[in-house]
Amino acid sequence: MKSLKELLTKEERDAIRAPIATARTLPRRCFIDADFYAFEVRHALAESWLAVAFRTSIPEPGDIAPITALGYPLLLVRDGEGRARVFHNVCPYDGCEVATSAKRALKTITGPYHGWKYGLDGKLLEANYWDGTPAAADVDLESLNADLIAVPCEEWMSTLFVYLGSTPVTFEEQYAPVLKHLELVDLERLEIGLGEDDRPQVNSLTIASNWKTVYENYAPNVYHEAFVHEMYRKSPHSPRVDENRNKTYTEINDPSGYLGLCYDNAIGASLYGETSLPRVLNKDGTPNRVNTISNVYPNWVTTVLGDAARIAFFLPEGPETGTQWVATFFDRDGASDPALLDDRKQSAKAGIKARVEDNRICESIQRARHSPGVESQFYNPFWDAMHYTMTNLILDKLERSEG
Ligand code: FES
Ligand SMILES: [Fe+2]
Repeated sequence: MKSLKELLTKEERDAIRAPIATARTLPRRCFIDADFYAFEVRHALAESWLAVAFRTSIPEPGDIAPITALGYPLLLVRDGEGRARVFHNVCPYDGCEVATSAKRALKTITGPYHGWKYGLDGKLLEANYWDGTPAAADVDLESLNADLIAVPCEEWMSTLFVYLGSTPVTFEEQYAPVLKHLELVDLERLEIGLGEDDRPQVNSLTIASNWKTVYENYAPNVYHEAFVHEMYRKSPHSPRVDENRNKTYTEINDPSGYLGLCYDNAIGASLYGETSLPRVLNKDGTPNRVNTISNVYPNWVTTVLGDAARIAFFLPEGPETGTQWVATFFDRDGASDPALLDDRKQSAKAGIKARVEDNRICESIQRARHSPGVESQFYNPFWDAMHYTMTNLILDKLERSEG
């Protein structure tokens, strides 16, 4: 793997560190180059809690689902007690994938190559025929030392997070700023809404763009809203400044990479349309009055509105592509009620429409990264403080590789 010195010049790093008015972004090759991507996967993505799935991938005890995250094959497992676990999806003996497809309600997991059996906690239970006998009763499984290798995993707001790096911070540490910010809201009441088929509605969208562009677009790039989104453009509150050039939102710009904005609910209603869905409630039982868009570095975002909340996360699959997963949450009294299906559909559709519009512009930006005409971008200090924080944070993480 190349070193950071080979990937970014001193001049480029100094330009990122300059005061915002004169600073530059990461150069364009950092969004298209395979060597840079390999480096940032290791130092800027794996060394963070990464959202990899919604709980709907493994809703019930005994459910398993193989996935790939940052190129690592992983196995999601809901154990007998209902706890989510994640393992490297590889048998320690001959190296097959432990599971090649999702399965429901298992008691044990059987490897496809030699039929080795693992418990839902990853423990090797049977190594059939290992000593030449079918039951292999005398095999000392402990001495084989072939349990599945666990990956640190957390489940919060119906999202599964993993830590794939070598110096784990706790999930609470990384998520402290957003937890603090949303502490008044009763997040426990929110559930992924059921769709037409009575199943939780989760959408996946392919985006041919770099993960940094997707992360930057969602909340840090407030400026784009009035131009990219028809429904925001129609709102009198767009583009979120009043006639005196005051922002009608409060910026969240935490150096940990917790970036976003909050604004009055009344504005939110005019952006997304009214519904008869139950309100998102605070812990004291009052309705939530503050819409919050919270991006948590590097790939998770939640939007808490008056009558719904959305969560999206983007899993990169290379420097120029990845998949975004989106779910819309409602108060538990409205998440499955058949009478509110149309309202849920209206809400989810508005969210997906905005996502698709954003994703198309991220793809356009990605194509433009191939132009040698502009080597890096600059910032507008009025709009782009969050973007500036993000670029500097990524450079911090990359520089940690140098000790
Ligand atoms: S290597 Fe997987 S069952 Fe043997
Ligand atoms: Fe957008």
